[in-house]
Amino acid sequence: MKILVTGGCGFIGSNFIRHLLRQAEAYHVVNLDALTYAGNPANLEDLQGDPRYTFVQGDICDRPLVSQLMADGVEAVVHLAAESHVDRSILDAAAFVRTNVLGTQTLLDAARQAGVRRFVHVSTDEVYGALGETGHFTEDSPLAPNSPYAASKAASDLLVRAYVQTYGLPAVITRSSNNYGPYQFPEKVMPLFITNAMEGRELPVYGDGQHVRDWLFVEDNCEGLRRVLHAGRVGEIYNIGGGQECTNLALARLIVQAVGASERLITFVTDRPAHDRRYALRCDKMAAELGWRPRVTLAQGVAQTVAWYRAHESWWRALKGQAYQAYYQRQYGPR
Ligand code: NAD
Ligand code: DAU
Repeated sequence: MKILVTGGCGFIGSNFIRHLLRQAEAYHVVNLDALTYAGNPANLEDLQGDPRYTFVQGDICDRPLVSQLMADGVEAVVHLAAESHVDRSILDAAAFVRTNVLGTQTLLDAARQAGVRRFVHVSTDEVYGALGETGHFTEDSPLAPNSPYAASKAASDLLVRAYVQTYGLPAVITRSSNNYGPYQFPEKVMPLFITNAMEGRELPVYGDGQHVRDWLFVEDNCEGLRRVLHAGRVGEIYNIGGGQECTNLALARLIVQAVGASERLITFVTDRPAHDRRYALRCDKMAAELGWRPRVTLAQGVAQTVAWYRAHESWWRALKGQAYQAYYQRQYGPR
């Protein structure tokens, strides 16, 4: 099966490609990635020279390029390319609308014209907005995005829906909760806290630290995506959540403990605007239709992730270089 994966040099994309190529099935993966600040060829350097893997550097908004790639025998598209960081979308939303909305529409058009058999659109629980202390989002929950990032993802989800309805495009949407694990760019909270703790730097907790996220180990998401790719029903939405809820303050404590750093590094900083209080997903549909369940608990996943970052110090130190420091200062102020 020849699969076009977009955004394969990012966090989930690189884990997903490696996950696919570990299976017994014969996959050929074409990875289209623009290599933005978040795209890192080092994430897949072990696949260099593998005949089952082809890398193409390019933009999902480049219509002739995506049409040409899809016309070359692509059977399925797994679309992960996106601008993905909420705080960056608050600083400047333009790239989010361009890539997440226009880029998705460009891919949908090209997929329709090439007659691809399956289009998996990778979306997020953030499109549902925020929960209070109780309850869960189901696939039928209304869309109520609160950040420019979430709004751009909700817009792309609606385009996917419209292409299914209008043109019969065989597309499926996944909405997952917060992923974590190897190869995550250290601006997201889990790798930021882990690497800051390793460097003896502050762990900046937004607001009162009582915001809750539903943590999903990236390998569990990859297996969910693979099942949706093969057996998800056209036009359907599938929630993929870890079922591991944790406040950000409790997460910070778990991380300093796992790293062996001092709790004194935990620092409260100004809250994120429109900061969603809680996410939690009901994933009965994935279980009932596709036999999927998350396997990794937060405690196991954090231990594995800390071990990975410890063993790959040069990988994350290279990313926390000059350009990153400029972003960090802008985000958290001089520290
Ligand atoms: P990431 O930021 O780590 O990677 C994004 C990748 O997309 C990078 O390799 C980047 O170079 C590439 N890219 C960006 N703009 C592009 C463009 N115009 N053309 C081609 N490539 C481009 O993101 P991630 O965390 O791996 O997320 C992947 C997908 O999963 C995104 O669609 C995101 O919305 C979704 N998602 C992420 C999470 C999470 O917790 N990380 C949870 C739910 C959904
Ligand atoms: O829920 C899925 C989403 O998860 C994905 O769609 C996004 O692409 C992904 O970035 C992630 O969004 P979040 O905003 O939840 O992730 P982030 O790692 O930025 O923040 C997680 C929580 O930690 C959130 O409540 C904000 C808080 N936080 C974050 C940072 C970066 C802090 O307290 N301090 C920080 O420095």
